[in-house]
Amino acid sequence: MQATKLKYNYDFNQKDQERVKRVGQKLSENAEAFVQAFYNYVSAMPEARRYLDKEEVIERHKAEIYQWYLSLFEGPYDNTYFARLHRIGETHVRIGLPTHYVNASVNFVQRYINEQIEHHFAGDAELVSLIAACGKVLDMNLDILTSAYHEGQMAPFERVSRYKIGLIRWAQKASDMTDLVLVIALMLVGPFVIGLFVYDVYLLVTGKVGMEEGILMVLGSLLILWALSELMEEEVRHLRGEGFAIAAFLSLAMAALIRKILVASLAEDKMYELLSYGALVLALGLVYWLIVKNDIRIGKRPNNRRSHE
Ligand code: HEM
Repeated sequence: MQATKLKYNYDFNQKDQERVKRVGQKLSENAEAFVQAFYNYVSAMPEARRYLDKEEVIERHKAEIYQWYLSLFEGPYDNTYFARLHRIGETHVRIGLPTHYVNASVNFVQRYINEQIEHHFAGDAELVSLIAACGKVLDMNLDILTSAYHEGQMAPFERVSRYKIGLIRWAQKASDMTDLVLVIALMLVGPFVIGLFVYDVYLLVTGKVGMEEGILMVLGSLLILWALSELMEEEVRHLRGEGFAIAAFLSLAMAALIRKILVASLAEDKMYELLSYGALVLALGLVYWLIVKNDIRIGKRPNNRRSHE
């Protein structure tokens, strides 16, 4: 949306601009205190802290918030200003930050600024107009900051026909059903893997296999059990709308191969078998490393589920 149209719709005129500048002359002096207050507020929301978990990210974000606060009063409220806000919104969408936290934190900023105006401009004849003018700037900010979220949700529905919307909804339902079947299948496989573990222990305890082979078999089935539980955790994350880390499947495949290597390593005539298993594990390990390093996930749905958290 064009800056002029936005300002027109919010009834933000030249007088408002001057009022916001006047407020800025006082409030910008204490921008560090604002950043501190903003972070105290965000830190009090444990779910929100998940998105600001690393020290370097927090420091970067603090500097961004500081600049944003100063430009709130400075403007100029032109296309460049609002394009920058839109980009911030896109970053928030990209990291999967639910729009709820942006709404809540802008509401906090509004209360903070109002308190500051009441403190610095107590008794001023323009007090109410100063608060109203800053309110308009913040509302325009919120409008643009969250527009990226709406675009993510609405765009496909705006462009396609009703028939296609119906198809998309059915496909979504089918995909949800498939997820459900996957979880149930994984839950069914669980007892079989536990059974394999118990069977291996039984073979070891009853002396049906040698001590060395028995221990390796038990360790191998434990490894598969661990990989299966990882896979289930990933599937649960996927159900919550996060991407599915295909690395979990690879770790299961590697666990199964390692179990085979452990058992085959005891036989003397299985040299070629061992070498081929080793090569396979190496190849899988390489792919696993690449996937984990780049945090490759499939089927991430930041815009439809997590944004409503
Ligand atoms: C008034 C509300 C907010 C404003 C004005 C704001 C501003 C910004 C800005 C300017 C950026 C950098 C965007 C870029 O250059 O691409 C950013 C990124 C980010 N924001 Fe916010 N933010 C707000 C609320 C929040 C909240 C509530 C959270 C978390 C709970 C959050 C988490 C993040 C994270 C994790 C990034 C990416 C940081 C990085 O890796 O550099 N933001 N935000």
